[in-house]
Amino acid sequence: MSLIESGLFKPQLLIDGVWSAAEDGKIFSVENPATGEVIAQVADATPADAKRAIAAAARAQIAWAETSVLERSRLLRKWFDLVMHNQEELAKILTIEQGKPLAEARGEIAYGASYIEWFAEEAKRIYGDVIAPSENNTRILVIKQPVGVVATITPWNFPNAMLARKLAPALAAGCAVVAKPAAETPLSALALGQLAVDAGIPAGLINILPSSCAKEIGEAFTSNEQVRKISFTGSTAVGKQLITQCAADVKRISLELGGNAPFIVFEDADLDAAVAGAIASKFRNAGQTCVCANRFYVQQTIYDTFCEKLASAMKGFVIGNGLDKEINMGPLISNRAQQKAQALLDDAVSRGAKIAYQAKQDDSWQTGYFFPPTLLVNVPVDARLTCEEIFGPIAPIISFETEAQVIQFANSSEYGLAAYLYTRDANRIKRLSDQLQTGMLGVNTGLISNAMAPFGGVKQSGWGREGSRYGMDDYLNIKYLRESFS
Ligand code: SIN
Repeated sequence: MSLIESGLFKPQLLIDGVWSAAEDGKIFSVENPATGEVIAQVADATPADAKRAIAAAARAQIAWAETSVLERSRLLRKWFDLVMHNQEELAKILTIEQGKPLAEARGEIAYGASYIEWFAEEAKRIYGDVIAPSENNTRILVIKQPVGVVATITPWNFPNAMLARKLAPALAAGCAVVAKPAAETPLSALALGQLAVDAGIPAGLINILPSSCAKEIGEAFTSNEQVRKISFTGSTAVGKQLITQCAADVKRISLELGGNAPFIVFEDADLDAAVAGAIASKFRNAGQTCVCANRFYVQQTIYDTFCEKLASAMKGFVIGNGLDKEINMGPLISNRAQQKAQALLDDAVSRGAKIAYQAKQDDSWQTGYFFPPTLLVNVPVDARLTCEEIFGPIAPIISFETEAQVIQFANSSEYGLAAYLYTRDANRIKRLSDQLQTGMLGVNTGLISNAMAPFGGVKQSGWGREGSRYGMDDYLNIKYLRESFS
């Protein structure tokens, strides 16, 4: 299938249920990071387009809030069915614009769809409360209402799933959305929008604004009083700017920001399981996830064995264009990402780290933004890549001696999104679960993402939770009613 032939190829703006060009007619290019080829010219939304989309969302939201939860649920379910029915086509679009291997792209489509399925059900479970009153003949009721128009800003690493996990709870709660997908990967979001139209989700509830001007669109969202909530997934630096911008009219905001996940392996762990978990956690999406293991802490007594086993497992990566069947690792998203990964690697080596394994570069890599999976040993605790998000396939391994020491290493970060722990000692699991400063902890597993679980972080990793029953809270206001009876 060529991209152009796909019925889900929609390189325009979706506003009020209609596909249109940008107000000033401008377009921007999207390229395939595996080949460097331009794959699409996409309408480039302006702040005026954002204003038009917000007005459409505000109109549509009024009727949607009045729509029964059963009807909302039914439409979300239909959308889920269509996404899964088109899984293969969506996966190809995703691989072509994002670079991840096709099998991983199929996984992301199913992962994104699982949020739609989950919130189709949760729509039916928006519960209020009846509270014991302080006086006779009174009643205290708590009801939940949609926050209104929500603006979402989503990243390029999971262009389908990150949008689905914001759109689905917003719609389930009775909100309408204006969405800005990442400029690198707008096509997956736009395809999702077309399927929402096909599912019969009313016009104006989902508006999608691809744009090369992230700052201007962000400001158009935060400065508009009709937008009552921002939901952002991306860097901590941008998250902080959005918090400041939202202060002007006290907009609600939820943030899924950067991570720096420690992956801790104790000497009593099942080492083969730890290596399998390390591969899954570190190298998913070529290391480009917020929950990727960023720094490995391995107990000194098993350090060499763990590193040898990990190096051997890393030899299984076949790197290239994700559309090719045998490929299991794609490129990084851009030349900038390649340069950042290289700078972090050079810094660690200049401080004494050793490259224990690095995949051989291949001629076929010349056209794309590939980076060789790299294992770094003897990494000093102060190397830049232990405090900055790597977002690339580099695994730095640091040795530790005691439990107290590794807890201190793990908690020394300003981030607190995910952490991983491998041990067979139940008491140790309890102690570390209590003490690690993180929003999510994988115990003897390297994969934690699940629509039924609350995804989110502490410290500078963000505010709020996505997925699970908690994921609906961010889209609902609480109203309390005090009733008096004679
Ligand atoms: C992310 O990288 O931001 C999300 C990853 C996930 O949902 O597993």
